[in-house]
Formats: sequence, structure tokens, C-alpha cells
Amino acid sequence: MELSFKGMTALVTGAAGGIGRATVGVLAGQGSRVWALDRVGLEQEGVEVLTGDLRGGVLLEEAIARAGRVDVAVLNAGICRPAELEQTTAANWDETIAVNLSAVFHHLQRLAGVMKKQRGGSIVITASTNSFDGEAGLIAYNASKAGLLGIVHTAANELGPYGVRVNAVCPGLIETPLTREAFDRPEVIQPYFAALPLGRGGQPEEVARAIAFLASDWASYVTGATLFVDGGQMAAKFGTWTEEKAEFAGGRWRLKPEP
Ligand SMILES: NC(=O)c1ccc[n+]([C@@H]2O[C@H](COP(=O)([O-])OP(=O)(O)OC[C@H]3O[C@@H](n4cnc5c(N)ncnc54)[C@H](O)[C@@H]3O)[C@@H](O)[C@H]2O)c1
Repeated sequence: MELSFKGMTALVTGAAGGIGRATVGVLAGQGSRVWALDRVGLEQEGVEVLTGDLRGGVLLEEAIARAGRVDVAVLNAGICRPAELEQTTAANWDETIAVNLSAVFHHLQRLAGVMKKQRGGSIVITASTNSFDGEAGLIAYNASKAGLLGIVHTAANELGPYGVRVNAVCPGLIETPLTREAFDRPEVIQPYFAALPLGRGGQPEEVARAIAFLASDWASYVTGATLFVDGGQMAAKFGTWTEEKAEFAGGRWRLKPEP
């Protein structure tokens, strides 16, 4: 069986960003009609674009009304506003929870009705490695991403009987506009990547392909799952790379040639 979305309709939120844009590309490339939702516009041939704020659900309603059916929904929009615990303002907390967690809940609730009626569908939510472990300075973000796991697990239970699958992809550090600043600072990424078995950051397409897998019929027996796309980050305990055996160049670790 070929991985294909031919004849399907997919909806992607956060579609103008790094991971969202790559996901739109992969789904459209595999034959899906794609509805791209973001507050920032994008131009992609053969893709229907809806621009505006996702909060409030107006954009989703418009996409559902115009698309007619939704076979695949990728709930991917997210924001990250770093601040230490005591410096995190109520506004920061509220906005982060509203976009990353509450909007996903409201979208999922609406899509559940649509997909139950269709007796089928697949939803992929972009969570994070930060859904599982701590990272200082990101309390609102981490709480929002941890909350998504509760959503995924519960929705998988409720929607499974209707043939609707709900899964999460959990990216590690991926090179997108969200993380541009980190990637531009070798003093940040060199020690970060030294802890990763694959010794480098990820590219948006590498997450998009995992999303496409979870969304597709190739994952027909997968629901309630969390798939790490993190270069091995969550499998690593003591770090991987040392300067004795490897060198950091071009933004990644590589083994030195054998003597
Ligand atoms: N890049 C990473 O390293 C990484 C790691 C783990 C998880 N993630 C998650 O992946 C998802 C995509 O991240 P990315 O790195 O592509 O970021 P990005 O900033 O490139 O893209 C996010 C997109 O969401 C859109 N968006 C945000 N709030 C919105 C709103 N209220 N209404 C409409 N659109 C809105 C933005 O306009 C942007 O285009 C996010 O949920 C993020 O938390 C990213």
C-alpha cells in the first residue's frame, strides 16, 4: 500500500510556520486537498489559504464549511514566550494556554463532531519533547504542551469507536522561525546537540513526514500515541558526543575520521 492522501481533504493550523508549511507541502504532495490556516498568509499552489486568528474558531468553521469534509486535521499552531516562573506575566500565561491548549481543545471538539459523522478521520496534534521534561524559562509553554497529552489520550478513547484516530507528534529542537535564534548561536546548539544521539537539530520536513505517517492509513492501528521526532533526545541519559571522538562543524556533531 502506497502512503497516499489522494481524494482526501486535510486541514493544517499554523500552516505558514516552519513545521506547518512543511506539512502542507507533504500532504499536498501526496495528493491531499489542503486547507492552510494561519494568521500569516502563505502562497502555495493548489492549497486553499485561510488567514486570521485561530482563537474563537471562526477560521475553522470557514474551513469546514468550504471543505465539506475533513479527513485529516493537523492541529499545529503554537507560540512560545520564554520567561522564568516569577517573571511570567498573567498575559503571557493566558495567551500561551489560549493558543497552544484551549484552541486545540475547541478545534478538536468541533472536528470530533465532523469526523464522528463521517465515521472516520485522523487528527495529529503537535506537542513537544517539552510535554514530558522540564526546560527552565518555559513554564507556560511546557504546561500547555503537557496538557496536550491529556487531550490526545482522552480523545483517542472517545473517538476510537468511530474510526477516528488522535495522535501527537513530539518534536525536539527543529530549525524553524520559532527557534531561529537558538540555531544562530553555536554556544547554544553545540552543547545541546552533544546530548542528542543524532548530533544535530531537526528540519521541518522530518517532522512533517512523521505527521503524514500518523495521519495516513499506514498508521491505521495507531491512536493515542506520542511519536518523538527528536534525534533521540528523549532516549539519551548522559549525552552522546565528546570532543575526543567528534567535532562540531556546520551546525552538527560528526565522528572524527578513524586514525
Ligand atoms: N520548532 C521546534 O523546535 C518545535 C519543537 C517542539 C514543538 N514545536 C511546536 O510545533 C508547532 C509549530 O512550530 P514551528 O516551529 O513551526 O513554529 P512557527 O512559529 O514557525 O509556526 C507557528 C505558526 O503558528 C501560527 N500561529 C500562532 N498563533 C496563532 C494564532 N493565534 N492564530 C493563527 N495562527 C497562529 C504562526 O503565525 C506561525 O505561522 C508549534 O506548536 C510548536 O510549539 C516546535
